[in-house]
Amino acid sequence: MQKKKLVVLTGAGISAESGLAVFRGSNGLWGKYRVDDVATIEGWYRNPELVLQFYNERRKELLKSYPHYGHEGLVDLEDVYDVRVITQNVDDLHERAGSSNVLHLHGRLMWVRSEKNENLRFELPADNCEIHVGDIASDGAQLRPDIVWFGEAVPMLDAAIDWVEEADIFVVIGTSLNVYPAAGLLHYVKRGVPVFLIDPNPVKDPYGKVTTYINCVASEGVKQLVELLSKEY
Ligand code: APR
Repeated sequence: MQKKKLVVLTGAGISAESGLAVFRGSNGLWGKYRVDDVATIEGWYRNPELVLQFYNERRKELLKSYPHYGHEGLVDLEDVYDVRVITQNVDDLHERAGSSNVLHLHGRLMWVRSEKNENLRFELPADNCEIHVGDIASDGAQLRPDIVWFGEAVPMLDAAIDWVEEADIFVVIGTSLNVYPAAGLLHYVKRGVPVFLIDPNPVKDPYGKVTTYINCVASEGVKQLVELLSKEY
């Protein structure tokens, strides 16, 4: 029998317990760096070395972090469901936890690409994961992070919408739902599909679709989700 499709939208909060900073809120990255300087194409043209340093530092943080049960519980659910993870995160913690289907809406931190040709991309090795001005791709163009900056197109959006439209169960974990088009994915959840939202803080649900709030951190929330699903679905 075909497994029910369980689609998950994750944000920075699912990686908080792995030691990676979230963006908004008291200790968020956007309190320390100006978004315009490090996460826009204008910032890149203004000062590429500053942008490269920002991502070099985040790569170093990522290499010191590990998945936790918030990531691993989603892998356990693959025994029962066809689990598809749509993440706004650029870390690779879902992959390292063992998730089979991960779609990165905002790119991947360990990957870099030619600034001229987005198809010329490769993954940096863990033991040499810094890039600087002057490091070039095979087409001779400057290497840049393979990250979707504010104002840039989100190439994986249509694929993400397809996944959401097919969901039998939808789960939102660790995102403030502040950023579009990611937050807009909730619009595509079919009527009658149960929507779980895991977050220790209150999150405004833009479309009134959430049916169950689990107000705790991701590791505990995923544990509760697994228990709830084992009883009801
Ligand atoms: N477990 C679960 N959720 C948590 C935890 C935790 N331990 N700690 C914090 N959170 C929640 C916060 O309450 C908040 O709702 O995670 C969410 C983090 O929100 P943001 O910092 O806005 O991160 P995110 O929603 O992923 O941002 C979306 O904005 O800057 C861009 O590209 C960037 O992908 C990012 C996008």
